[in-house]
Amino acid sequence: MTHETVFTYGAPALKFGAGAADEIGFDLQQYDAHRVLVVTDPGVAATGHPERVAQSIRSFGVEAVVTETARVEPTDESLQAAVDLARAQGPWDAFVAVGGGSAIDTAKAVNLLTSNEGELMDYVNAPVGGGKAPQGPLKPLVAVPTTTGTGSESTTICVLDVLAQRVKTGISHPRLRPSMAVVDPRLTMSQPAGVTAAAGMDILCHALESYTARPFDSFAAKKPDERVPYCGANPISDMWSERALGLLAGSFRRAVRDGEDEDARGQMALAATFAGLGFGNAGVHIPHANAYPIAGRVKDFHPVGYPEGEAMVPHGMAVALTAPEAFRFTFEAAPERHLRAAELLAPGADGPADKRDHLPQVITTLMRDIGMPNGIGAVGYTDSDVEDLVEGTMKQQRLLATAPREVSGDDAATILRSSMELW
Ligand SMILES: NC(=O)c1ccc[n+]([C@@H]2O[C@H](COP(=O)([O-])OP(=O)(O)OC[C@H]3O[C@@H](n4cnc5c(N)ncnc54)[C@H](O)[C@@H]3O)[C@@H](O)[C@H]2O)c1
Ligand SMILES: [Zn+2]
Repeated sequence: MTHETVFTYGAPALKFGAGAADEIGFDLQQYDAHRVLVVTDPGVAATGHPERVAQSIRSFGVEAVVTETARVEPTDESLQAAVDLARAQGPWDAFVAVGGGSAIDTAKAVNLLTSNEGELMDYVNAPVGGGKAPQGPLKPLVAVPTTTGTGSESTTICVLDVLAQRVKTGISHPRLRPSMAVVDPRLTMSQPAGVTAAAGMDILCHALESYTARPFDSFAAKKPDERVPYCGANPISDMWSERALGLLAGSFRRAVRDGEDEDARGQMALAATFAGLGFGNAGVHIPHANAYPIAGRVKDFHPVGYPEGEAMVPHGMAVALTAPEAFRFTFEAAPERHLRAAELLAPGADGPADKRDHLPQVITTLMRDIGMPNGIGAVGYTDSDVEDLVEGTMKQQRLLATAPREVSGDDAATILRSSMELW
């Protein structure tokens, strides 16, 4: 095999800092946009942020219409409904997403399907969907995150639940990447503690998984048209991931405990952005592969801080629940990286005698402190569900290919079973 020698790096234009969201109207003028759709979800709309952003856009002479069509953790049905409405009310010159990953991913789908022909499922990753690439360019999309989590403002994917197939998957293409990310930590202050905790675990896992991902130069060499946005761990993504871990160490517990702590909120927003810039190019692996069935096959779990009356395991929580055991499994592929990550997250902590336990222990201590459920048992799964979950995990071959060790069905079963109860 000829080894890969090339890695790639892509990122949106970025504006970061308190007050950045007030300038979006100016930025839209630079894109020559006259009529824009502001996409959000009802929970974020209730904070008033999207309407304030729309008002400020209007003050620059740009027409802005707010739509609350994003659903928390989008489905094929919710995205299709958002697209239908946007198509009926268009045309639009640009889109602005104000919200967490759910609103940003909805805006990506709306942008794709108002700029291109066809239906949603044509573009969803194969084999679940048609895996089609957009034929033409998309419109400018300005992504304004209000959670500190997904990094979706920097990435090329839109994650969705395909209800009929009970599977979470995505649409993935470089053209989906927002043109500009506007990260204004002030908009994140109103996040409920439960959302801060779950979304923060998503940041943590993005950083840890991309840092421990299979190195880009261990893959077979690709032709130019075979390159994918996620190319494995590389010197640039490593830098973002390491910095994100250091920022989390100093701010995560504080932001969950006191949502008014502006300094902690600012550091968390920076951490989410850094981790997004890292994993958005390197990729993620086992915890994210497990998260899809854990979230997709939820029975009756209702997390605090999320919309009431709906069973769900939020993305960041679903990712976190198997992370300690996943990193125990991947330790042997790169011990020094696992130990360095533990040191960044808990500087100076005495590690256990068995070094393999160090990073898992640092993660579980943090999870306890911020009120994460104690394992997949605590969100409703039992040993009799493991086979079903493994089947869902093994469908995520795109993610498992980025793991630093090969993952068999038996390995996935062991990780899931040991994640029933974490402490
Ligand atoms: N595209 C990507 O790169 C990517 C990466 C990771 C996750 N995701 C996806 O993103 C989604 C999760 O996004 P998320 O974790 O950002 O949360 P979210 O967008 O689902 O929002 C979670 C909850 O918090 C509320 N909320 C958000 N911001 C708020 C604020 N400032 N004040 C008050 N309430 C607020 C929302 O109304 C919602 O009820 C999942 O669908 C996940 O699969 C996408
Ligand atoms: Zn994630």
